[in-house]
Amino acid sequence: MSILRQAHESVQSTGRIQQRRRYLMCRPEHFTVSYRINPWMEPAKPTDTAKAVAQWQTLHDTYLALGHEVELIDAVPGLPDMVYTANGGFIIDGRALGVRFRVAERSGEERPFMDWFAANGFEVIEPIEVQEGEGDFLLVGDTILAGTGFRSVGDSHREIAEVFGREVVSLRLIDPRFYHLDTAISVLDPVEGPGGVEKANIAYLPAAFDDESRRILEERFPDAITVSDEDGAVFGLNSASDGYNVFISPRATGFEAQLRERGYHPVLVDLSELLLGGGGIKCCTLELRGNR
Ligand code: ARG
Repeated sequence: MSILRQAHESVQSTGRIQQRRRYLMCRPEHFTVSYRINPWMEPAKPTDTAKAVAQWQTLHDTYLALGHEVELIDAVPGLPDMVYTANGGFIIDGRALGVRFRVAERSGEERPFMDWFAANGFEVIEPIEVQEGEGDFLLVGDTILAGTGFRSVGDSHREIAEVFGREVVSLRLIDPRFYHLDTAISVLDPVEGPGGVEKANIAYLPAAFDDESRRILEERFPDAITVSDEDGAVFGLNSASDGYNVFISPRATGFEAQLRERGYHPVLVDLSELLLGGGGIKCCTLELRGNR
């Protein structure tokens, strides 16, 4: 196992281990804001699809330039939120759990994502409970952090524990601006290293959680980076990490400094146009784990 992993890893000068990732993305060809399902969306405000595509392309190209693999799913006309592929499923070890959206506006995305997983060699598991995929489920080491409060229902946490046979830690979101877990927690070291999971760490926005969830986070992640409300409010935590490069919004300047102090390498990518739909870097990125 460790020998296989080594081909995908490189140790950086700061001691951080960079791991090669495989992501699923969707070019925002039909991006617009035509309905309002989170506080960021204002249908009356014009959007610029060409700008969204250009910003998205920069993220895509940056992943490739830093050694990652990116797969693409075709955008479907009439499904403007499909660019937020993190909500398309949750995948570990080549097994893809599909999603059941809470919001009717996005239910048309469920089948295209499951079809893509099947066509690309993943074992597809059809979900029973309402949940929005990697938007609310984050793998940290070998534990799944699971969000509820706005979109994914509590019962989906039990279902995901059964499907993947992993420990699931439920966390409750309380601020409507941070309606998916990936807007309030950033996983910095997403996959267990050869020596185990001891390095897996996170960054989070304390104010996004209820008291009990905050207590759980403090206890489990004593070394976590806690970000300021300002950085949280510009979707600073909606970021992807390969263990060394952390892809973040250029507006999250405090978080950027915190990452540098810890030996990570912040890579700044501006997705301001996609923020009009209530999504950022992580929302546009679904991690494909396994089946290779
Ligand atoms: N407009 C989309 C929605 O409200 C944005 C999804 C953002 N995705 C995420 N993983 N946080 O569903």
